[in-house]
Amino acid sequence: MDFNLTEEHIMIRDAARDFAKNELLPGVIERDEKQEFPKEQIKKMGELGFLGMMVSPEYGGGGMDTVSYVLAMEEISKIDASASVVMSVNNSLVCWGLEKFANEEQKQKYLTKLATGESIGAFCLSEPEAGSDATSQKTTAIEKEDHYVLNGTKNWITNGSTADIYIVIAQTHPELKHKGINAFIVEKGSKGFEIGPKEQKLGIRGSDTHSLNFNDVKVPKENRIGEDGFGFKFAMKTLSGGRIGIAAQALGIAAGAYELAKEYAKVRKAFGTEIMNHQAIAFKIADMYTSIEASRHLVMKAACDKDNGENYDLSGAMAKLFASKTAMDVTVEAVQVHGGNGYVKEYHVERLMRDAKITQIYEGTSEIQKIVISRSVFRD
Ligand code: CAA
Repeated sequence: MDFNLTEEHIMIRDAARDFAKNELLPGVIERDEKQEFPKEQIKKMGELGFLGMMVSPEYGGGGMDTVSYVLAMEEISKIDASASVVMSVNNSLVCWGLEKFANEEQKQKYLTKLATGESIGAFCLSEPEAGSDATSQKTTAIEKEDHYVLNGTKNWITNGSTADIYIVIAQTHPELKHKGINAFIVEKGSKGFEIGPKEQKLGIRGSDTHSLNFNDVKVPKENRIGEDGFGFKFAMKTLSGGRIGIAAQALGIAAGAYELAKEYAKVRKAFGTEIMNHQAIAFKIADMYTSIEASRHLVMKAACDKDNGENYDLSGAMAKLFASKTAMDVTVEAVQVHGGNGYVKEYHVERLMRDAKITQIYEGTSEIQKIVISRSVFRD
């Protein structure tokens, strides 16, 4: 595999790195503490093109490849995983799904605003009883004359209150099971659409996670994405790409914690020398670096597969599985390298450790990735 980055890739990576250091780092601890959404920063990310990176310029996007996207995701996630999840959902789950499967009218009306960050999107699949078991959708979308009527509850929705446009997955024909599911574009402010209380989270606390209630919400028929019954495939295909973005997020969290631990080990002294001179610490740094590099290879492989038109269900699931475990392991070790300082907020690693956990849960738990991987292995 050739991962030689082009000049453009390097430029995008460096722009994301500068943005993260200059705009996201100041205030990141306070936002985490107060569970405050990075509103101004997300607005700037939209202006800089980070929210619609892969959308074609025709619809207001950056027309970039997936490699560019994962490079930017890694850099933003090193500093602020709350900002990067907003970026990830908007790019991978909302913009990508719309560009690939929506009709021209829907793209002109919604995608053009989402690609520039003028609107923010949310992806609403999970339910109280349908997180991993995504075929068991209880939210219903019943067809009436020129519209559908939506009823049900969605849980743990990223951008729950800040989004303007919601892609909602719902069951239209229960007797057809997953083949009866549809995906709809729902606008904020629709009558009967209520945003529930904000979740109090362990990590990615700056991001805005809510449950959503749909009580007889009328959705025009023209807001259904694709053919009747296409909703489950839409969700699965969209999530396959989303997993590459979350793998890049996990990689960034791990790399951010590693960089802090490495710098700390160079200056912190114990037993008469910098702690990097003790094998107990040096070996930790070696393990961290190795697993991060292995994760980077998997993330880049999945991104390249997507850019090259190859199937990326398997490579994306492997990247997410491995990088999210790496994020968890590396951040725990980064706290350990920092000793007592690692346990306090100003050193950042405790936040990265809390943020890491979600990468093993959302857009398919690690167990779901293993289902995808093992099925693929036995099928081939
Ligand atoms: N691409 C296209 N089609 C796919 C597909 C894919 N990647 N994966 C499955 N399908 C299709 C299958 O081909 C099958 O279609 P047919 O009946 O026509 O053959 C259909 O979907 C059903 O597939 P399965 O029988 O494999 O379904 P399953 O019930 O066994 O479940 C699963 C498969 C992989 C476990 C799936 O349910 C899954 O991915 N679950 C996890 C869902 C998830 O990621 N939830 C996270 C919520 S979103 C989120 O976290 C966003 C956020 O806020 C950050």
